[in-house]
Amino acid sequence: MDQKKIDTEAQASMWNGRYGREEYAYGEAPNAYFEEQLKKLKPGKILMPAEGEGRNAVFAAKLGWAVSAFDISTEGQRKAAELARKNGVTISYKVGGLDTLKYQEEEFDAVALIYAHFSPGLKGEYHSAFNKYLKKGGTVILEAFSKNHLKYNQSDPKVGGPKDLEVLYSTDEVASYFSNFDVAELEEKEILLSEGLFHNGYGSVVRFTGRK
Ligand SMILES: C[S@@+](CC[C@H](N)C(=O)[O-])C[C@H]1O[C@@H](n2cnc3c(N)ncnc32)[C@H](O)[C@@H]1O
Repeated sequence: MDQKKIDTEAQASMWNGRYGREEYAYGEAPNAYFEEQLKKLKPGKILMPAEGEGRNAVFAAKLGWAVSAFDISTEGQRKAAELARKNGVTISYKVGGLDTLKYQEEEFDAVALIYAHFSPGLKGEYHSAFNKYLKKGGTVILEAFSKNHLKYNQSDPKVGGPKDLEVLYSTDEVASYFSNFDVAELEEKEILLSEGLFHNGYGSVVRFTGRK
C-alpha cells in the first residue's frame, strides 16, 4: 500500500473514534463564518469536502442548496445522515477521498472548506481539484486554523486543531490555491470558538471568501 493510503486509513480511524460517540464533536449548529457567508448567496450546488458530522451540510440543505459532501469517516457519514433526518433534509454524502471520488469540472456553484485540514501530501492536489470543480462565478468559503494557531493550542488544548504546521494554513497559501479568484475577504484573525466538544477557546484562523 502506498504511503498516502496508509496515512488516510490512520486518519479515518482517528476520526471514526472521535465521531463514534453520541454527541456531535463540533456541535449541530453550523460554523458562524460559513453561516454568515452562505446566507449572502443564491442556493445552487455546493461541494462540502471533509464535512465530518454534517453540521454545515444540513444548514446548507435547509437553505435550499443541493449538497454533495464527502469525508473519509464512515462514522461522520452516519452522524450526518442522522442530523439530516432530524432536520428533515436530504444530503448526498460519500465516504472516501479524491483518489476514488470524482466530480465534474465546473459542477458546483460553491465549495465550502470549513476546518478542512488535509495531510501535507494531499493538500495541493485537493485544492487544485476544488478550484477545477467550481463554476466560473462560483464561490469558495473557507475557515481553517492558521499556522499561528499552534501556540493557541499549546496554551489551551480545548481549542483543538491540528498540531502539524504543514496541515495548518497561511493566507499566502490560500491565496496561491485560489489565485484566479476575486477576493472578497482574506485574513488571518484571532477568534473565540465555541463549537461542540472540541473547538472551545481562542484560536487563530484563516478566513477566505472569493469568487472564481
Ligand atoms: C476538523 S474536522 C472538520 C469537520 C467539518 N468540516 C466541520 O467543520 O464540522 C476535519 C475532517 O476532515 C476529514 N478528512 C481528513 N482527511 C481527509 C481526506 N483526505 N479526505 C476527506 N476528508 C478528510 C476528517 O475525517 C474530519 O471529518
